[in-house]
Amino acid sequence: MTRKTLTLALACTLYAAAETPVYLNPDAPIEQRIEDALSRMTLEEKVAMCHAQSKFSSPGVPRLGIPEVRMSDGPHGVRAEINWDNWGYAGWTNDSVTAFPALTALAATWNPALSAIYGKNVGEEARYREKDVLLGPGVNIYRTPLNGRNFEYMGEDPYLASVMVVPYIQELQKNGVAACVKHFAANNQEQWRGNVNPTMSDRALYEIYLPAFKAAVEQGGAWSIMGAYNKLWNQHCCHNKRLLEDILRGEWGFDGAVITDWGGAHDTREAALNGLDIEMGSFTNGLTTESEFTYDDYYLGKGFRELIQSGEVPESVADDKVRRILRLIFRTAMNTGKPFGSLCSPEHYAAAKAIGDESIVLLKNSGILPLDPAKTGRVLVVGDNAVRRLTDGGGSSELKVKDYISPLQAIRSVFGADNVDFAEGYRAGRPMYGRVDEIPAAIQDSLRAEAVAKAAQADVVIFIGGLNKNAGQDCEGTDRESYDLPFGQDVLIEELINANPNIVIANISGNAYAMPWADKVPAILHTSYLGTMGGASMADVLTGAVNPSGKLPYSIPVRLADCGAHSFGVESYPGVESETGDVLFGVCAPQQTYAEDILVGYRWHDTKKIPARYPFGHGLSYTTFAYGKPELSAKTISPDGSITLTVPVTNTGSREGAEVVQLYIGDDKASVLRPLKELKAFDKITLAPGETREVKFTISPDMLAFFDADAHAWRSEPGTFTAYVGGSSTATPAKAKFRLTE
Ligand code: BGC
Repeated sequence: MTRKTLTLALACTLYAAAETPVYLNPDAPIEQRIEDALSRMTLEEKVAMCHAQSKFSSPGVPRLGIPEVRMSDGPHGVRAEINWDNWGYAGWTNDSVTAFPALTALAATWNPALSAIYGKNVGEEARYREKDVLLGPGVNIYRTPLNGRNFEYMGEDPYLASVMVVPYIQELQKNGVAACVKHFAANNQEQWRGNVNPTMSDRALYEIYLPAFKAAVEQGGAWSIMGAYNKLWNQHCCHNKRLLEDILRGEWGFDGAVITDWGGAHDTREAALNGLDIEMGSFTNGLTTESEFTYDDYYLGKGFRELIQSGEVPESVADDKVRRILRLIFRTAMNTGKPFGSLCSPEHYAAAKAIGDESIVLLKNSGILPLDPAKTGRVLVVGDNAVRRLTDGGGSSELKVKDYISPLQAIRSVFGADNVDFAEGYRAGRPMYGRVDEIPAAIQDSLRAEAVAKAAQADVVIFIGGLNKNAGQDCEGTDRESYDLPFGQDVLIEELINANPNIVIANISGNAYAMPWADKVPAILHTSYLGTMGGASMADVLTGAVNPSGKLPYSIPVRLADCGAHSFGVESYPGVESETGDVLFGVCAPQQTYAEDILVGYRWHDTKKIPARYPFGHGLSYTTFAYGKPELSAKTISPDGSITLTVPVTNTGSREGAEVVQLYIGDDKASVLRPLKELKAFDKITLAPGETREVKFTISPDMLAFFDADAHAWRSEPGTFTAYVGGSSTATPAKAKFRLTE
């Protein structure tokens, strides 16, 4: 035999002998595949899987054909490609996407069916872009309107956030793309996010800050979760024993992978032992500069390997992490049943538009809206957000959009370009990450004067301002410094009102802000960042082509001091730097107490009798709704029973519209502090003019419970409860009382 024939014969023999290994057999149960793959891996390969290999990927096992895990932000669309080894954009030309509305806008729809559509569509884009993990959705609770990242979350109420997050995850993951629910937990501010150490009661934790994460895991079935940058109980959340081991895995049975926030790991031993699986974004020694280092220098790199090799940590610790990572890979990258995805399709644009349409909140309307384009005359649009591409900036959620319809573009197309003039009114600075672009006062003065002069000549003024995605506004890494609108917008609005009282305020922001002019303007629209189709949604609501049906997912306090988190001084927000402790980004171990405890958002306004300017759940329509008398199926409810509440709701106006019927329940007398009432159910219904619908809610004892920290269990106390039903947290005309029996 020649040498060539020998080689060929050997190859044929090997080929014949080779059976498909179990881990490569898509029909074998995932747990068997995991064990098979694990049994073939070296310690080096296992450890390598536990940390990044680039800015946005972690390695698979190349020798075994196990692919890497590719991740991308999230959560409002798929972020443009980032360079392998640094934070720069890679400059690809095929990574432009659809920008979906911000999550706070999604929450404002109060429509879980739209959340499912959101998850499906963003998941298709992620799959098309070959991503295995989409870094989102975010469900940190809106505790203060100063938090620069509230726009990436789902508002102030744990129940609303829970209901809205579940369908997003379920539909996203049908694309073979994992959700990475973030930031677990209590990342409720950007100021000092790297090491602030909030102290809160277990009640606040379980009743307010954890439920949406729990729903994401237990009902949504999230395949991964991202640890928060901050600490809890003096330990960083990315390797926090109580959070990750006791609660996430112990209490909720999470079988997915825990991924750090980028640079959120700080200690090898804790990272090894406290439930972290994949470490991303770390720098040398966990510090902040991108100096020379290899990915093996990560906390879960060679340091981790050495702990195992020296016997200090058993190899089973690495095995457990790798099992979770393999499970993630089999569900995503190696999921042979996954679809192929799609990008910027008409369906995606329609979804973005539909979500945007239902998210716009009509705060106030004395009749000026809707505007009939045929009868409006000369329209003046004022404000930077009418023209600014608001998908730029904001931090990691920034998107490179293929298309973007600005409000001015859409208004011009609906009202006729010749009828619509534009004035900047104020200048709002360029997007500058981490820095604020200062604008000289003289420029602002002359822009204001120009807008006011034009306003006097117009028939209607539409002011489109608010916040933007620059540092110090709705942007990751910094909180807002003030509750007021920036760039002198309040002065400008006052002068515009004086020049022309026919003014509609249609502001865009991811947060509440002071509205000192609210009583002087005839109409206010409030909306978050709506992405690709946002301008079209806004124009359609202004003209009435779309009847607004959004409801506030957070309260809008009159003053910052009226917000619970800001009622207890700096200890409560933003916290106080310590004399000793770890120093991160030049800040020494800030300590913080959530002094308002469970009274977050409307729970505070209601219970303390401090009315918000616009309450949680508020939002008007171009039609009106009336609530009839609620009927209970029984007046008492036993600890293992349930009752139903039925309430007739009628469209009393002259056009079709949708109403979010909200059920709140309050414990009339309790042995512990309880909020006056809490959201327990809601139903968004569409009614024709004159139509009445009976809306039915089931009330069960778990809806009456509070978290008893001593017993570490949910408990409800017998006694009288009140059900409040209506169209906002304060407009609850339909009330009914019932008793919970012993
Ligand atoms: C953010 C995360 C984001 C990650 C990756 C971090 O700074 O907090 O939300 O997913 O960066 O970009």
